[in-house]
Amino acid sequence: MTVPPGAPQASRLRLDGVSVVVTAGGTREPIDPVRFIGNRSSGKMGNALAAACLEAGAIVELVTAAAPPAPAPGLRVTEVETAEEMREAVWAALRSADLLFMAAAVADYRPRQAAERKVKKDPAGISLDLVPTTDILASLRHHPRRSAVFLVGFAAETDDLVANARDKLHRKGLDLIVLNDVRAPGIGMGADDNAVTVLDAEGVVAAVPRRPKLEVARAIVVAAAARLPLASA
Ligand code: CTP
Repeated sequence: MTVPPGAPQASRLRLDGVSVVVTAGGTREPIDPVRFIGNRSSGKMGNALAAACLEAGAIVELVTAAAPPAPAPGLRVTEVETAEEMREAVWAALRSADLLFMAAAVADYRPRQAAERKVKKDPAGISLDLVPTTDILASLRHHPRRSAVFLVGFAAETDDLVANARDKLHRKGLDLIVLNDVRAPGIGMGADDNAVTVLDAEGVVAAVPRRPKLEVARAIVVAAAARLPLASA
């Protein structure tokens, strides 16, 4: 990070010179050459975060499993399809990044083996043998630069919202978590608006009511920027 020491930590609202990785979209886990297991993530929240980081002066690598946004100065896009490709891209990008926003909806399971040929219809039905994917955020505990990167995770919850988000923050070793109530109508996956609660290990640090995703992203970026260490190697 190139930001000089000096100003009090909480006064920083911009990300000038900060290298940021944002993940977006829902991973697709192949069943055969034409089918996959996916989810409803559109990539809009991740794209909004990338845009908000660029506005704040950051250099951004967007690792996306959704349609990529239009090119922009300071933006590098890495397109991926599966959870494993996303893990590889995130690990590589964090060799030089200061901050990660893990907004992607990563599949928790994948078919054990993708069929090489199209699976033919079977009137008796078929069973899919699913195995867990790697939890990308949790795996970062073992990344050589873990202590130099500020990790922001996302929690899509339907019940016990704050308790589940805090548990995720601790389990995945995060610095900040962005909680999304996926039951609420008009926000979240695929929608143009979102409403979130941002938490750190101490508790709630920001509550952002329903707004367009870019405005929500700006509030999340401010919450993260205010907590970044001001200088590091
Ligand atoms: N995540 C990840 N790797 C996975 C699954 C999720 O890095 N294989 C990240 C997501 O990008 C998100 C956070 O972990 O930032 C929480 O994702 P979420 O789907 O809410 O939680 P899960 O860990 O999948 O737990 P559960 O589905 O049981 O709530």
